[in-house]
Amino acid sequence: MSEGKKAGEKRVLPGKKSAKLLHLRKKYIPEAVFQVAPVFIERGKGAIIEDVDGNEYIDFAGGICVLNVGQSNEAIISAIKEQMEKHLHADHNVTMYESYVRLAQKLTEITPGTFQKQVLFSNSGAEGIENAVKIARRFTGRYGLICFEGAFHGRTALTMGLTSQVRNYKYGFGPFDPGIRRFPFPYGYRAPFGVSADEYGNYCIEKIEDSFRSYIASDEIAAVVLEIIPGEGGYMVPPKNFVQKLRKICDDHGILLIDDEIQVGMGRTGKMWAIDNFDVVPDILVTAKSIGGGMPIAATVAKKEHMDAVPISGLGGTFNGNPVSCAAALKVIEFYEKENLVQNAARLGRIAMDRLEKMQEKYAVIGDVRGIGCAIGIELVKDRRTKKPDAERTKAVLKQCHEHGLIILSCGAYHNVIRFMFPLVISEEELESGLDILENAIKK
Ligand SMILES: Cc1ncc(COP(=O)(O)O)c(C=O)c1O
Repeated sequence: MSEGKKAGEKRVLPGKKSAKLLHLRKKYIPEAVFQVAPVFIERGKGAIIEDVDGNEYIDFAGGICVLNVGQSNEAIISAIKEQMEKHLHADHNVTMYESYVRLAQKLTEITPGTFQKQVLFSNSGAEGIENAVKIARRFTGRYGLICFEGAFHGRTALTMGLTSQVRNYKYGFGPFDPGIRRFPFPYGYRAPFGVSADEYGNYCIEKIEDSFRSYIASDEIAAVVLEIIPGEGGYMVPPKNFVQKLRKICDDHGILLIDDEIQVGMGRTGKMWAIDNFDVVPDILVTAKSIGGGMPIAATVAKKEHMDAVPISGLGGTFNGNPVSCAAALKVIEFYEKENLVQNAARLGRIAMDRLEKMQEKYAVIGDVRGIGCAIGIELVKDRRTKKPDAERTKAVLKQCHEHGLIILSCGAYHNVIRFMFPLVISEEELESGLDILENAIKK
């Protein structure tokens, strides 16, 4: 790392080179593609990024939960290089390759459930969810889908419908899939009428059961699509009984439970899958983001009997399970096992939570600190009693952080939650330094 500012030191953003590129970006890239910090990355290593102006940053974003193994992980890079020397693309529909099958095998071993599973690869989280829905609809012969407030499942035509936030994800892009039914999600911190999180969880379940009497028959529902800890929605952790009762509703009515593990899965919660924290086994699990260590790949893991319901050519795609992505993903899983990354997430999560809870005691603006393992969100409010969201303050805190060398993002329906998505290989020192930058920004 060179001439620019070290993490913790104030820098002017954008730097000169970033400003030039930003100018080009404005000209050639649509405004619709959102952008968080006025920084162009030059290189990265682990949890440290260097921008084109030579400034250093601690990375609390991981390319939005993609880099659990860190930037430029050597093991992953050599697996990628090795594969690239052999072949870049084949299309498994045309000539098959071993890594595709081996990765599928591995995923069936490390995902919940002892039943026989199969794996379908695709290129992005949204595609993974689309495929899960296709499989569920074909297997059940039903069209209905239950999803929740706060959830984000993607930006394609179907997943946009499943996604909760109207602006800016959905507005003006409709109509959406007619099978979609949305229900309240037990957002404990904002439970209405002062009820407890558990009571709110029960209420949300009752709403679903009621709907089977009032406006959709349960045997028209193919699947419940669940993002257990909504990432874009604000890192709310639902009560265990909510998830378990949801499982029971699915069992009672022949509905499949689709578990969207795209953001907080892959060890972030201190267990391999977020759903493991709730002692529930999904029917279909979708993973993407960190499974590829930076390469685009998604996997939809379903029971074999569900996959068997889809006829030949009902699933697939040109780049699905690209050999380079498969090689990277196999190495990612190996790296997790070798480096005990999941246990490390639990350990790092305790350090971060401890520190954030102490900050909450000191700064009234922090209304809530919540999460499991390293899947953490803190909610900024104008007033702890009214819990009025403070989006402007959140924006200002993030700006301060970026200007002092911490890349960090917000989320939440009210844009007032700061989320933590640092690589799970971050050192304790880097984690503490990042939290120092955040604390200074909040203090200001
Ligand atoms: C929970 C969740 N599901 C689905 C998606 C969509 O994934 P992708 O952007 O790879 O299509 C995201 C992306 O942020 C996500 O966080």
